[in-house]
Amino acid sequence: MKRIVVVGMQWGDEGKGKITDYLAQKSDVVVRFQGGANAGHTVVFSDTKYSLHLLPSGILNPDIVNIMANGMVIDPIIFKKELDAIKNLYTLYVSSRATIVLPIHKDIDLFLENSKGDKKIGTTAKGIGPAYTDKVARIALKVADFVDLEHLEENLANYLYLKRFELKAYGLSYSASKLYEELLPYAVYLKRFVTDTSILLNNLITENKTIIFEGAQGSLLCIENGTYPFVTSSSPIASSVPLNTGIAPWLVDGAVGIMKAYTTRVGEGPFPTEIFSNLAHEIREKAREYGVTTGRPRRIGYLDTVLIRHTKRVSGISYLAITLLDILSGIDELKICVSYTLDDQIIDYVPSNIRDFEKATPNYIVLEGWNEDISNIKSYKELPKNAKEYLKKIEELTNIPIMLFSVGADRTQTIVLKDIFN
Ligand code: IMP
Repeated sequence: MKRIVVVGMQWGDEGKGKITDYLAQKSDVVVRFQGGANAGHTVVFSDTKYSLHLLPSGILNPDIVNIMANGMVIDPIIFKKELDAIKNLYTLYVSSRATIVLPIHKDIDLFLENSKGDKKIGTTAKGIGPAYTDKVARIALKVADFVDLEHLEENLANYLYLKRFELKAYGLSYSASKLYEELLPYAVYLKRFVTDTSILLNNLITENKTIIFEGAQGSLLCIENGTYPFVTSSSPIASSVPLNTGIAPWLVDGAVGIMKAYTTRVGEGPFPTEIFSNLAHEIREKAREYGVTTGRPRRIGYLDTVLIRHTKRVSGISYLAITLLDILSGIDELKICVSYTLDDQIIDYVPSNIRDFEKATPNYIVLEGWNEDISNIKSYKELPKNAKEYLKKIEELTNIPIMLFSVGADRTQTIVLKDIFN
C-alpha cells in the first residue's frame, strides 16, 4: 500500500500518534485531514517531549512533507505556539481552504457547553464545534481569507456582522479592529505556509510518494457515523480523506485501524463496557489514561468488539494495529464484549438512538489473563499463551488481520507482524 489512512477505531486516544510515527518512518508525506487542536498526543524525540495537538505527526522528522488539509479547523494562535516549540527543521503546508478557528469560537464552545447542564458533551473547549458550524453556515473565515492581509480587517468585520444576532443572544461582543490587531501577527506568520494542498497532494501522488493520512479522534466520535450527539464535529474515518484533502476516492489504498486492547472514552456519552470497579483505576494509573489536551481522566472499559465491527463497516479497515497490550498483564480474567442486549434482543450494532445505546448491556466472553510482564518482548512468539489467545480472538471477532501490536510507548516496543508497504 502506498496511501494509507490511520483510523482510530474507538472513541479516540487509541495511540494513533505512536503508530503514525512508526508508519511515518517509512513514508514521505503525512497529512492531517480533519479536526483541529482538540487532538493530542505526546511524542518523545531526541529526549525532548512534545505535545502535539494541531500539527501532523511527521513534523518532528525533517525528511517528511507535512500537510494540513482543507478539512481541518486551524487555530492560528495554537499553530504558532506549537511550531515555535519545534526545534528541528520541518516542511509544512497548510491548505488555503481549511477553516480558521477564532477566539470567538472558543468562547462560544464554553458558553454552549455551560448552557447544557447535565446534557454536556464534554468538549475540549478548543472551539471545534462552533468553527465547523460557521463553515457549514457559510460564514467562516477560510485560511485564504485570513492570510489576505489587505482584507483581513474587512473580512473580520463582515464575519462579526453576519454573526451579530447569535453573539448578542450569547451576551458576547467583539470589535473587528481589536480582533484584527490581535490576529494580524498570526496571519502574517501563517501566510508563508499556505498553498492549495489539493494540487500539492495530487502532484505528490503522481510522484508515487508514500503517504499517511492521519485521522484525529476516533471513529465513534465521527459526526456522521459516531455516537451522536456525543461526537466531534468532523469525520475521522477513511472515507473522509478524499473529500477533506481534495483527492479522488480511488487514490486511497487502505486503512490501518488503531485499537486499544481495551476501551477508553473521555467526555460524556454512553459506554456499555465501562468498568466501575477498582480495575478501572488500576488500568488508568498503569496506562496514564489522562487526556493530553484537557488532562481529564479517561473512562476505562473492557474491549468492545461491537464498536470495532461498527468502525470496520463504516470506515473500511485493512489491518489492525493493537496498542497497550502490556497494560492487561496481571488481570486474571479478560472480558471481551461480543454483542449487546437491547430490550431482550441480542444485537450486533451500535444503536443510532442514543437512549437505546444507553440501555444496551454488553454480552461478554471471558478469556484467561496472563501475569508475565510483556513490555520487553521483541517477537510474537515470546508472548505468553493467553496473550496470543487474546490477539487471536480479536482477529477472529473482527475478521481483520493484525499488522502490529504494541507493548509500550517507545518506538522499540512495537512488534510488527506484517509489512504493509510491500
Ligand atoms: P470537541 O471535538 O472538542 O468538540 O469534543 C467533542 C467530543 O469529542 C468530546 O467528548 C471530547 O472529549 C471528544 N474528543 C475530541 N477530541 C478528542 C480526542 O482527540 N481524543 C478523545 N476524545 C476527543
